[in-house]
Amino acid sequence: MARIVVVGSISMDLVATTTRRPEPGETVLGTGFAMVPGGKGSNQAIAARRAGAEVEFVGAVGTDVFAADVRKVLDEAGVGTAQLRSVDGPSGITVIVVDSSGENSIIVVGGANARMTSLSDADLAAVAAADMVLCQLEIPIPTVAAATRHARAHGTTVLLNPSPAQEVPRQLWENVDIAVVNQGEAAQLGSVLDAVPHVVTTRGGSGAVYRGPEGELSHPGVGVDVVDTTGAGDTFTGALAAHWHEGPLTALAWACTAGALATTKLGASASIPERAEIERLLSRQP
Ligand code: RIB
Repeated sequence: MARIVVVGSISMDLVATTTRRPEPGETVLGTGFAMVPGGKGSNQAIAARRAGAEVEFVGAVGTDVFAADVRKVLDEAGVGTAQLRSVDGPSGITVIVVDSSGENSIIVVGGANARMTSLSDADLAAVAAADMVLCQLEIPIPTVAAATRHARAHGTTVLLNPSPAQEVPRQLWENVDIAVVNQGEAAQLGSVLDAVPHVVTTRGGSGAVYRGPEGELSHPGVGVDVVDTTGAGDTFTGALAAHWHEGPLTALAWACTAGALATTKLGASASIPERAEIERLLSRQP
C-alpha cells in the first residue's frame, strides 16, 4: 500500500447550479445550491485514500463555522489529520457555478490555505517518511517549494498538480518527479514540462496520456453521464498517486476510471468514488 502525504488546500465549496453560467455583468436564475467540502488538496487526499493508499494530510483550516465540516470529511474518509492545523480567521472558501452540461466556473478564496506559510518539523518528518508527496498550487508556493525540496532530499517521490495554473520557480520544478496537468495547463507551461521525468496530461472525457521513460502511453475516456466535472481532476490525480507503484499504465487506468466516476455526481468530495466502485467499472473495460 502506497504511503502518501498531501501538502495542500482544504476549503468549503459553495456550489450554485444553473442552466447557463452568466456572462460578465449578467444575472441568471439558479436551480440549486449545496455546500460541499473541497479544496484540491483535500479532494486528492480523499481520492488517494479511497483508491487504496494510506494518506496523511498537511494543511490548515480556519476558526470559522466551516472548519469542523471540512475537517470531518477527511476524518470520515480515513485520511490522517494529525498535521491539519487551525489558524485564526476564515477557512478556505470556493465559489463554484455549475451549468447543465456539468461545466463549471470557480473562484478560490484562500483563507487559511493562504496563511499556510511554513511547515513544522512534524510536517517535514511526515514528508520524509512517505513514499510520495502530492502537492497543488492552492497554498503559498514557498510552502510547496519547501515540501518538494524536503521530499527530494529524503528520496520521497514528488507529484505536482500545478493547479490553479500560475508561475512556479524553476528550482521547484527541478524537484518534481511527476506532473499531472490538463491540456490547458500543458499548453500554458510549454517547455517547462520537458524537464519533468514523468508527465501525465488529462484530456477531459477523452482519457489521459503519459510521457516518460516508459515511452508514450494512453488510456481512453470512460463513458459516463456527466453531472458535474468539479473535482474530477483531483480524483484522477489521487487515484493515479495511489497506484503509481504499479506502473504508469495501471495507474492511468485507475485514474481515468475514478475521474470519470467523479463526474457523475454533484460536488467535489461528495463525488469521489470508493475503491469497489472503481474496481467494478475497471473490470467492465476491455
Ligand atoms: O478541483 C476542484 C476544487 O478546486 C474544488 O473542490 C474547489 O475547492 C477548488 O479549489
